[in-house]
Amino acid sequence: MIGRLNHVAIAVPDLEAASATYRQVLGAKVSDPLPQPDHGVTVVFIELDNTKIELLHPMGETSPIQGFLDKNPSGGIHHVCYEVDDILAARDKLKAEGVRVLGNGEPKIGAHGKPVLFLHPKDFTGTLVELEQA
Ligand code: CO
Repeated sequence: MIGRLNHVAIAVPDLEAASATYRQVLGAKVSDPLPQPDHGVTVVFIELDNTKIELLHPMGETSPIQGFLDKNPSGGIHHVCYEVDDILAARDKLKAEGVRVLGNGEPKIGAHGKPVLFLHPKDFTGTLVELEQA
């Protein structure tokens, strides 16, 4: 079921500083900040040869990233995103295995315009997992 690693998302307290680190220190291809009001985040995309890194910064008062940064003030890995061929089939299989799907269980359109779902970190050794339709 599990496919490619689509991205690793890192929550950062200072988007400009984090972007500069990836651009100047690591020499990575770094996008401009992209506001995603529906998800309560501003995202910077970093293109690597084999996957992507997404820098997440809270947007608005009720951002889901703010609580994470309150607990991890210097930032940290927020989630990993795996591709699946059929997100509804993957969801149904995971639910049958007892995995908790977050939200109402229906895929939402994610940062890349494709359907995504999030899975409970306690079901994946403490890591929030995002599934994205390949
Ligand atoms: Co993501």
